[in-house]
Amino acid sequence: MKVLVTGGMGYIGSHTCVQMIEAGLEPVILDNLCNSKEAVLERINQLTGKTPVFYQGDIRDREILDQIFSEQSIDSVIHFAGLKAVGESVEKPLEYYDNNVHGTLMLVDAMKSAGVNSLVFSSSATVYGDPAEVPINENTPTGNVTNPYGRSKYMVEECLRDIQYAAPEMSITLLRYFNPVGAHPSGTMGEDPQGIPNNLMPFIAQVAVGRREFLSVFGNDYPTPDGTGVRDYIHVMDLADGHIAALNAVGKKDGLHIFNLGTGKGSSVLEMVDAFSDACGHDIAYKLCPRRPGDIAECWADTSKATKELNWEAKFDVKAMAADTWRWQSANPKGY
Ligand code: NAD
Ligand code: UD1
Repeated sequence: MKVLVTGGMGYIGSHTCVQMIEAGLEPVILDNLCNSKEAVLERINQLTGKTPVFYQGDIRDREILDQIFSEQSIDSVIHFAGLKAVGESVEKPLEYYDNNVHGTLMLVDAMKSAGVNSLVFSSSATVYGDPAEVPINENTPTGNVTNPYGRSKYMVEECLRDIQYAAPEMSITLLRYFNPVGAHPSGTMGEDPQGIPNNLMPFIAQVAVGRREFLSVFGNDYPTPDGTGVRDYIHVMDLADGHIAALNAVGKKDGLHIFNLGTGKGSSVLEMVDAFSDACGHDIAYKLCPRRPGDIAECWADTSKATKELNWEAKFDVKAMAADTWRWQSANPKGY
């Protein structure tokens, strides 16, 4: 089965391509390299012995979309391409809505012209906003989002809902990721953020490798066991497998399918720091700081729907997430 993977050179997309190849699927990548490097292709080859067909281009470029759909006989699309930095989205909302919302509409329009009916979309637990209770299941209300990035994900979900309603032959799957972390266990591929990392795990990794002096722990006065924020961290390899499970289970079934992809278990900032210290064999320097505006206290997934309907479950714990991130970071201190 040939699958167009938009954003396939990025963090989650690249790991998903490796797992797809291992599972006998054929990824075709479209990426404009705005947040990734071409070196990723060689790494995919090192791990799998295969190099996916790669189109360098933008999802908002109708010509390249039509070219891909006419040159490749695509069965399904996994749509990772988009911008994802929350802070930047507040500064540049236009770029976020253009890339994430308009880009998705361009892609779906080209899919419809080409008669491709199966789409898996990278959504986020951010669409749940600050949930009234945890764990969060797929029926928890969405839309109470606090920043343009989150709102762009929510808007795309709503657009796709309407599009699927009007085209009932389509299979559209919304995968709501919790907090993806970790790296390929070989240390060959991992997250390579440009500039100062926004997210916890890559920041800890850069402190561990000596690129940053200390971690700022944003708030230790939350109503959580140790006062720091609690999240559902999920290993990127589990997340990658979740996409394949979704393609297999519902990729050919018409309808709108929605799944949380998480582990169902929350970990605090200080628990992540401890797990990483164990992995790298030395302490991680940190300072307790005020809360980060917009953050919520805790968030973790009810994963029972994915377990039941996708026959998928996360396998890796935070120990493996830390060990694999460390292996990647220490072997590639400056990324790709
Ligand atoms: P990433 O930035 O590493 O990967 C995104 C890829 O898309 C990059 O390679 C980038 O060059 C490409 N891209 C961006 N805009 C494009 C465009 N207009 N045309 C073509 N290519 C384009 O990000 P990631 O962490 O791998 O995230 C993938 C998807 O998952 C994103 O949609 C993101 O919003 C979503 N998501 C990520 C997280 C997370 O924590 N990483 C959490 C929830 C959801
Ligand atoms: C953030 C985004 C969310 C996005 C997700 C992707 C915000 C408000 N939310 O979620 O929209 O989908 O990333 O993974 O940015 N922390 C520190 N120090 C740091 C960095 C983080 O203490 O330097 C803490 C945070 O306060 C939080 C936890 O670590 O409690 C996780 O933070 P992060 O990795 O940024 O993810 P989220 O905030 O869950």
